[in-house]
Amino acid sequence: MSADRPPADRPPADLPTGSEKRAMVRAMFDTIAPRYDLVNRLMTFGLDVVWRRRTVSGLGLAPGARVLDVACGTGDLCRLLTARQLRPIGVDLSAGMLAAARQAAPLAQADGAALPLADASVDGVTCGFALRNFADLPAVLGELGRVVRPGGRIALLDVSEPTNRLLRAGHALWFRHGAPAIGRLLSDPGAYRYLPRSVAYLPPPPQLQALIRHAGFSSVNRRVLGGGAVQLLTATRAGLPPTEDRRR
Ligand SMILES: C[S@@+](CC[C@H](N)C(=O)[O-])C[C@H]1O[C@@H](n2cnc3c(N)ncnc32)[C@H](O)[C@@H]1O
Repeated sequence: MSADRPPADRPPADLPTGSEKRAMVRAMFDTIAPRYDLVNRLMTFGLDVVWRRRTVSGLGLAPGARVLDVACGTGDLCRLLTARQLRPIGVDLSAGMLAAARQAAPLAQADGAALPLADASVDGVTCGFALRNFADLPAVLGELGRVVRPGGRIALLDVSEPTNRLLRAGHALWFRHGAPAIGRLLSDPGAYRYLPRSVAYLPPPPQLQALIRHAGFSSVNRRVLGGGAVQLLTATRAGLPPTEDRRR
């Protein structure tokens, strides 16, 4: 870790980190892949689709732009990107999630911390509900800084906690008890017990924004959706676009 890098995640001691976390996360998503989409829709009352649409809008890229969906899972964001005339490619660590994907975009099994893409080769990146699952979030953000062209955009969606006290109490009840109960009924109980606990991996908003800036992005913006249940972080890759570089 570089000395000037902002501190990243500090999970409780009983949550795995590093290679142990990476192996656990991969095995867990392999297991829950067949019912992942169904459980997601039920747990969020279908709002996850609305939030992913907002993520694609948050990119603000023109039709034809090449967009990497990192940790694409079963391909929900890839499908929405295609519907907006963008050209997605997806990567994910879990072969099970990729096998459950039903869409036409090119997909590859890869770690977000070691992307099989050339420098400045994409116009944008989306990421849905995966930041807290990465074993090395700063390394993944560093890879996004490498593969996004100057002037390109990123839009990163993940869970959050409402700041309003009443909403926070209702959200905590649902997120800690209601959602895991659906997972227990329809999928793997252990995986959905992990869901509320995995929030501990997410750096607090100012720290997360600092990490994104440190990875080479400017105009970092955070907005909350769903009454604060989720957060959408957008940013622009710093540096001049290639045409302007040539003019200098
Ligand atoms: C909660 S799912 C989200 C899937 C999808 N983006 C969505 O919006 O539904 C988290 C995904 O992150 C993937 N993942 C976790 N660590 C990863 C890594 N280091 N590199 C690539 N994918 C990773 C998991 O395999 C899983 O598919």
